[in-house]
Amino acid sequence: MDPAELKAIVRTIPDFPKPGILFRDITTLIAHGRGFAATIDRLVDRAQMADASAVAGIEARGFIFGAAVAARLGIGFVPLRKPGKLPLDTIGIDYQLEYGDARLELDPNAIDTGEKVLLMDDLLATGGTACAAVDLLREAGAHVHHALFVIDLHELGGGEKLRAAGVTSQAIMQFG
Ligand code: PRP
Ligand code: ADE
Repeated sequence: MDPAELKAIVRTIPDFPKPGILFRDITTLIAHGRGFAATIDRLVDRAQMADASAVAGIEARGFIFGAAVAARLGIGFVPLRKPGKLPLDTIGIDYQLEYGDARLELDPNAIDTGEKVLLMDDLLATGGTACAAVDLLREAGAHVHHALFVIDLHELGGGEKLRAAGVTSQAIMQFG
């Protein structure tokens, strides 16, 4: 399936979770067997070029795609978690996203100093979440130069924000 066909499977819901937000919902994409598999194939092709030794995925939707790609590449998966979930050492960061405030946490022992990590999530909007994830991974000693998404809402400027932080981003599909 090509990117236009995959894009047609993503559901758009107006005014969720807040008035004025056009929510791009991947529920329909991951429920579509061929669509999900084709999305993972395309992500794996791009992820190979990052030459990373681990994929870091952002809870929750980033886990779905990041873990599948890490398993296909035979490299580790590092979860960036919402607060209060990790049992031992944690470092954390507060941030803003398109529709609110949130916090991510990471067990720094999950990263080797100097390890090359590919950041993955389902969707890039303002880039608040992705840039916070990059900061947290770097604090733990990772080298982060590439980020990969299924969807880029390019008018919200996340790609530029990541570029300013020294990270190149790629996505399978774009929405205005
Ligand atoms: C969504 C999405 C990204 C983030 C993008 O996550 O999965 O992580 O928003 O927005 P930004 O570029 O403006 O920061 P959400 O916090 O809704 O969490 P979820 O994956 O648990 O649904
Ligand atoms: N995360 C941030 N903005 C979003 C949007 N418009 N749709 C789905 N997830 C999002």
